[in-house]
Amino acid sequence: MPAAIRLNDGVEIPQLGLGVWQVGDEEATDVVLTAFEAGYRHVDSAQGYANEAGVGRAIARSGLPRDQIFLTTKLTNEFHKRDDARRATEASLEKLGLDYIDLYLIHWPAVIRYGETYLEAWEVLNEVKAEGLVRSIGVSNFNPDHLDRLLTVSDTVPSVDQVECHPTFSRTDLAPELARRGIALEAWSPLGQARDLQDGAIGAIAADLGRTAAQVVIRWHLQKGNIVIPKSVTPSRIAENADVFSFELSPDQMATIDGLDSGNRIGPDPATATF
Ligand SMILES: NC(=O)c1ccc[n+]([C@@H]2O[C@H](COP(=O)([O-])OP(=O)(O)OC[C@H]3O[C@@H](n4cnc5c(N)ncnc54)[C@H](OP(=O)(O)O)[C@@H]3O)[C@@H](O)[C@H]2O)c1
Repeated sequence: MPAAIRLNDGVEIPQLGLGVWQVGDEEATDVVLTAFEAGYRHVDSAQGYANEAGVGRAIARSGLPRDQIFLTTKLTNEFHKRDDARRATEASLEKLGLDYIDLYLIHWPAVIRYGETYLEAWEVLNEVKAEGLVRSIGVSNFNPDHLDRLLTVSDTVPSVDQVECHPTFSRTDLAPELARRGIALEAWSPLGQARDLQDGAIGAIAADLGRTAAQVVIRWHLQKGNIVIPKSVTPSRIAENADVFSFELSPDQMATIDGLDSGNRIGPDPATATF
C-alpha cells in the first residue's frame, strides 16, 4: 500500500486505513488481521467504539513490527477534563497493548453538552505527545471556529481533522479552511456508508474502468489528497477497497464526482450535536 501523507508535525500516515466503527470487540481481531493480510497498515479505532482490545489483539497476533503499523484512537467526549483525559489515554494504551498511539484525536468538540472542555483535552493531548505516549495529535468533527479556539491554549496546530466526507458531502467549504491551516483532511464515512456507491455517475465511471464503485470513490479521495478510512467487515471488500493503487481517475472523472456534492450530511452537525 504505497501512498503516505506527511502530516504537519512530520509524522507519516498511510493514506488508506481500515475504519472499525460498529465492529464488535471479538470481530475486530479477525477483521483487522484480514486487513493486515490484504496490506493495510493503518487502523482507525476510538475509545467509543469499544473495540480497542480486539484491535490490540490483532496487532499482537500479526507479528508485524510496531513501527509498520499506524493506529489511531480517539478521546471520548465525556473524558475531556484533565484527569479523565489522562486516565482515558492510559486505558487506551492498556487495552491496545501498545506503548504509544500513532494518532490521537479529540473525537468531537461536543460544545453543547460539555462547553469548551475540549480545550482542556487539547492541553492533555499536547502533554501526552510530549511524554511520548502519542506520536501525532489531531481532532475530529472540528469546524474552523473550534480549530481557532485551540490556538488559545497551545501553539500546536492539529495534524488532522477527521470529518464526514464523501462524494455527496465533499466539504467544499471546510477543505480550503483545513488546507490554509496546514491540517490534513481525514474522511470518515468515505463511502457515504455505502449510499454513495449507488450513484449512477459513479457506477458509470466504475463500468468504464472495470472497477467497483467503492474503488472509484476511494480513488477519488486519494487523488484529492484525503486520508481515507473505509470500513468493512467483509474479507472480499476489505481486499477490494485496498486494490486502488494501479489505476487513476481522469480529471474529467474527478470533476464528475466533485459535481455530486449535495451539501447533505449523514451524521450530526458538530455545531449542534448534543452528545
Ligand atoms: N470521527 C467520527 O466521528 C467518525 C464517524 C463515523 C465514522 N468514522 C470512521 O470512519 C470509518 C468509516 O466510516 P463508516 O463506517 O461510517 O462508513 P463507510 O466506510 O463509508 O461505509 C461502510 C459501509 O460500506 C460497506 N462497504 C464497505 N466496502 C464496500 C464495498 N467495497 N462494496 C460495498 N459496500 C462496502 C460496509 O459494509 P460491510 O462492513 O458489511 O462490508 C459498510 O456498510 C468508521 O469505521 C470509523 O473508523 C469516524
